[in-house]
Amino acid sequence: MKQYQVGIIGATGMVGQRLALLLENHPWFRVVCVAASSRSAGKTYEEAVKNRWAFQDKPIPAAIAKLMVLDASEVEAVSSQVDFVFCAVDMKKDEIRALEELYAKTETPVISNNSANRLAPDVPMMIPEINGDHAKIIDVQRKRLGTKAGFIAVKPNCSIQSYVPALWPLMDFEPETVIACTYQAISGAGKTFETWPEMVDNVIPYIGGEDEKSETEPLKVLGSIKDDQIVDAKKPLISAQCLRVACLDGHMAAVSVKFKIKPTMEQILDRWANTKTQIADLDLPSAPKQFLTYFEDPSRPQTRLDRDLENGMGISIGRLRKDPVMDYKFVCLSHNTLRGAAGGGVLSAEYLCKMGYIPHKNI
Ligand SMILES: NC(=O)c1ccc[n+]([C@@H]2O[C@H](COP(=O)([O-])OP(=O)(O)OC[C@H]3O[C@@H](n4cnc5c(N)ncnc54)[C@H](OP(=O)(O)O)[C@@H]3O)[C@@H](O)[C@H]2O)c1
Repeated sequence: MKQYQVGIIGATGMVGQRLALLLENHPWFRVVCVAASSRSAGKTYEEAVKNRWAFQDKPIPAAIAKLMVLDASEVEAVSSQVDFVFCAVDMKKDEIRALEELYAKTETPVISNNSANRLAPDVPMMIPEINGDHAKIIDVQRKRLGTKAGFIAVKPNCSIQSYVPALWPLMDFEPETVIACTYQAISGAGKTFETWPEMVDNVIPYIGGEDEKSETEPLKVLGSIKDDQIVDAKKPLISAQCLRVACLDGHMAAVSVKFKIKPTMEQILDRWANTKTQIADLDLPSAPKQFLTYFEDPSRPQTRLDRDLENGMGISIGRLRKDPVMDYKFVCLSHNTLRGAAGGGVLSAEYLCKMGYIPHKNI
């Protein structure tokens, strides 16, 4: 495959740095442009991140260390160099929505980690294994934006990427009610223990907006395209409580589910082991070989031991058992900045390239 020239908007942030590492030796994608706020613009990437590079064991990729950081608001300057961009910025929602549309309107597809465009009914919110087919809505979005190639695709919030993959193979048992409590790592707030010492030995029972995202976003992922829009699944009704815990990476969830058609334990385990994903035959470079892994050991999954499963792209599940109030309960885990952010974005981009949604620009 001819290499795609790509840009990272928000390259200096936590997700942007992860993207820089993931794309370092990517077989299809080459980072040729990095952009961030005006605070970083005009510095080399190395200078811009030198006091906040989050990965002590991994150096800044040499190929981008000397690139000059552009101001993300200079849309033409970025777009003229790239086939598409990844976007992960910390800005107000309306500013992000406007910025992403500006890029799309220069015929530059945007693969976004931000929440601003997630609930638009013509923007696919992708976990490619589960709902890659939602990309079909891109034609509708292009009509709205007046573009030929440009569009926005997003990935869902990191908090849902442990339990939605576990629920998805069980949807024909019609889960009616889900109670999920998440235990979320500090990198999800763009932080390390150095930059957030108050989190050492601590749990904070509030993450702004997270409960709501964790209750609504799954319904879009599990929804379907009808009448030129993505229509949310009607069930399950989800109650979520999201807690920040003293872990560096990895979001865990404790989940209880009540079904309309109650499956047996064996049926659930069989679905988790054998349900075929939508990308199973596509040979995408970042796809995990095994999407869902069930641990028989009752002390697993553990955040530190299991978050890196399948290069941080696998979902770990354990402790399936009967629930005296609901039907079943279990625990699941995903890596928040890999599967839940940068890695999920890269996998979505690979899917969209493979399926022909991202053309080369002949740069
Ligand atoms: N961390 C996670 O696990 C995670 C997971 C899923 C989704 N997300 C989402 O991804 C996005 C980025 O998160 P993060 O954790 O990487 O944040 P972060 O570490 O705070 O980084 C923010 C990035 O945004 C840039 N930025 C800030 N203001 C800007 C402006 N006015 N114009 C252009 N760029 C600007 C920053 O550039 P400067 O360095 O120049 O300030 C930096 O590159 C957020 O929308 C977040 O909700 C994060």
